[in-house]
Amino acid sequence: MILALARSVRFCLTRDSEAARGNSWAGAPQVDAMTPWVTLTATVIGRVKPETGYLCNVKTLDDILREYAVPIVVRYHHERPDAPLSGVMLLIRDALIEHGPPAGAWSKVTLHATPYLSCTAQIGITPMTKEELAMVQMTYSFEFSAAHRLYCSDRSESENERIFGRCANANGHGHNYVVEVTVCGCPDAETGAIVPLPEFERIVNETVIDRFDHKHLNLDCPEFATLNPTVENITRVIHDRLDGAFSPASLAKVRVYETPKTYAEYPA
Ligand code: NI
Repeated sequence: MILALARSVRFCLTRDSEAARGNSWAGAPQVDAMTPWVTLTATVIGRVKPETGYLCNVKTLDDILREYAVPIVVRYHHERPDAPLSGVMLLIRDALIEHGPPAGAWSKVTLHATPYLSCTAQIGITPMTKEELAMVQMTYSFEFSAAHRLYCSDRSESENERIFGRCANANGHGHNYVVEVTVCGCPDAETGAIVPLPEFERIVNETVIDRFDHKHLNLDCPEFATLNPTVENITRVIHDRLDGAFSPASLAKVRVYETPKTYAEYPA
């Protein structure tokens, strides 16, 4: 059995990481002051050993991340506090490539700078090309509120009710949609960014949020005049609107949460 195993370490950027570990769930080092506090998640792909049921020991993953990756993040924060995240990801990836996991192979590593902004470096199982090694992904979250009605005009009322239930309500209903946009590219030699964050925000706001926020998707948005605004179709429409908008970076994927329990992602 081959599968992926992910492990996160949480830490603050203003204390010595060798300080007391404390509550390992809440992260280490601990602080009760206001401080930059981030999460680093590494994923390993590999075969589960039948005798132990382990792919690899997560405690060892913790040790590797804390010894080789966390100091890079802390140092980067001190030396270049205003530099974009993408620059540090290439350093973390190089360190992890140099210090492999105890079993399996690294798949990717993600730094969550805030709950709404993260940066990921892929680590290929096969040797990566020079181009692949220069690439980083950045994911940024947005939200909009909209009404919709799920309904097929060529079906009877009772059939629509059978398929869509309360979602077929004639006057619609609403959701607070969360949109996670992931772009992929090489950090700019001068700025260190894949796409400068204000530019990222401007593109998504102008292309998606302004268009759908506080609208009735079926009635106000031509995209959904004949297309049922399910979360699947909304995701695809948003993807297609953003595709090509971040050049020279590219759109990697779009994930739309209709509720905290349901999301669609394209491409899969
Ligand atoms: Ni709905």
